[in-house]
Amino acid sequence: MKIILGSDHAGFGLKEACKRFLENAGVHQVHDAGVFGRSSSDYPAIAHKVARAVSRQEYDRGILICGSGLGMSMAANRHRGVRAALCHNLYSARLSRLHNDANILAMGERVLGEGLALEILDVFLNTEFEGGRHKRRVDQMDAVE
Ligand code: RB5
Repeated sequence: MKIILGSDHAGFGLKEACKRFLENAGVHQVHDAGVFGRSSSDYPAIAHKVARAVSRQEYDRGILICGSGLGMSMAANRHRGVRAALCHNLYSARLSRLHNDANILAMGERVLGEGLALEILDVFLNTEFEGGRHKRRVDQMDAVE
């Protein structure tokens, strides 16, 4: 799976942990869209970079991390075909894939411990979309774009 990930300064530590996790899994091609340190940065710039790449289908999935996950998910969802899910528990991560075919996972480093965040990531990557009636509903989401 081709994955692009990014964060602002507040999500940098968790972004690095996610990158290590993906690289250790060895089954993913991972691109880090930044940022590369804790210097203050603006989350929309990275959200747009990652969401644009997912919208253009250059990557299968995106991961966006900021302090709360809120700004990243809001900015990413402005892009056509992007379904960014803000997940802070395993149930949301699972359902974001099963029912909503989420293609970007957003998380907040100031909300989550690293252990839970990596489990959420694992569930997000390894749960298939159920399709069927959920496909119809996902298509209806895109109808306003
Ligand atoms: C940065 O302080 C913080 O506002 C940002 O990381 C994010 O939480 C915004 O939604």
